[in-house]
Amino acid sequence: MAGGHPGGMASFRAFRYTAPMDFIPFARPAIGREEEEAALRVLRSGWLTTGAETQAFEREFAAFLGADGGRTLAVNSATSGLLLALDALGVSGENAVVTTPYTFVSTALAALHLGARVYYGDIEEDSFNIDPAAVEAALNAHPEIRAVIPVHVGGNVCKMDEIGAIAARRNAAVVEDAAHAFPARTGAGFAGTLGDAGVFSFYATKTITTGEGGMAVFKDPQGARRAEVMRLHGIDRPVWNRYGAARASWEYDVVEPGWKCNLPDILSAIGREQLKKANLLYGERKKIAGEYTRAFEDWDFLTLPPDSGANAWHLYVIGIRADKLRIGRDAFARLLQDAGIGVSMHFIPHFRFTWFKKNLGLREEDFPRAAQRADSSISLPLWPGMTGEMVQRVIESVGRIGTEQYARKR
Ligand SMILES: Cc1ncc(COP(=O)(O)O)c(C=O)c1O
Repeated sequence: MAGGHPGGMASFRAFRYTAPMDFIPFARPAIGREEEEAALRVLRSGWLTTGAETQAFEREFAAFLGADGGRTLAVNSATSGLLLALDALGVSGENAVVTTPYTFVSTALAALHLGARVYYGDIEEDSFNIDPAAVEAALNAHPEIRAVIPVHVGGNVCKMDEIGAIAARRNAAVVEDAAHAFPARTGAGFAGTLGDAGVFSFYATKTITTGEGGMAVFKDPQGARRAEVMRLHGIDRPVWNRYGAARASWEYDVVEPGWKCNLPDILSAIGREQLKKANLLYGERKKIAGEYTRAFEDWDFLTLPPDSGANAWHLYVIGIRADKLRIGRDAFARLLQDAGIGVSMHFIPHFRFTWFKKNLGLREEDFPRAAQRADSSISLPLWPGMTGEMVQRVIESVGRIGTEQYARKR
């Protein structure tokens, strides 16, 4: 199968957390000796910006995706990748996209920066992902929609078959926001390779990280070519080596007003080492998620995170059931923090942001499922290198708070 490099246990031990146990952070990157040495290699090489390391990272990432992948471009963030992918697939001020309000703000900002209109569909009843029926309704109501942007929230892969078929009927492109989803895989292939283009994030909390960074994957070589040009100012040819070679040409042309979205070699070198460990890091996440699920399964005061079976387990999101407890989500989360457990919330939906309410006229009542999830969700610590003891402490803290706050009379 396509599926990358084996990871060594020595690397894994190097990022095992050894700090005092009074606080368990919500997230922590798994950086070992290999990443340190790779960064040092680049620092000493005389070449810091985009160059040979980035080209190698792109090739190795494409090899990891194997036959599922396409043309693969390293970018300085998934946000930049989304901008480039949407632009390459024809999203502009003349048209629109449809996505979910239950995502990080950059999913929509990428389209807004292109001047496109953003329409939203509510999430599914039983998951954090966009409801294919809502995608269909938006496409029927707004024929100007050029692209659908499904988001694999927490790494749990959307119903891509259904979404792809609906988009195809309306001639809309599919750009996957796979920021959370590396390296989740369905029967049809890796998340991020299931649409026309897909974008991964290497932000500090992701399965593999470069601190900041991302990778955009394109099915269509022409779209990829456009994105490559737009990634570096709209310059018409690769110019990264124009200072490095004795006979390099200083000639170039600018054929479009592009952006600056390239990934520098220091970060790519770190990414290459992380990629070698990707399956190992993913395995750790899956294992911890499995331990949480086994512990939480019988507790009726919480709901478990949805799992389609193709899940990168970027996040482990529990739902706090207001009908079973005397306290709500915010108080539950505070009590976890008091117990030294780092928590987070994914996501504040776009209809709760000032700019979106004012300019897109978004109304909470149009997205009842997203609103319900936003009021009840808590993301728990989930990162490779958490010790078994840490996982147990998270479980015990959730259990103790749930038991103490249980509304027995109901
Ligand atoms: C769903 C989603 N999409 C896109 C992004 C943007 O990623 P980046 O920080 O790499 O730009 C994020 C950020 O974490 C995200 O959560």
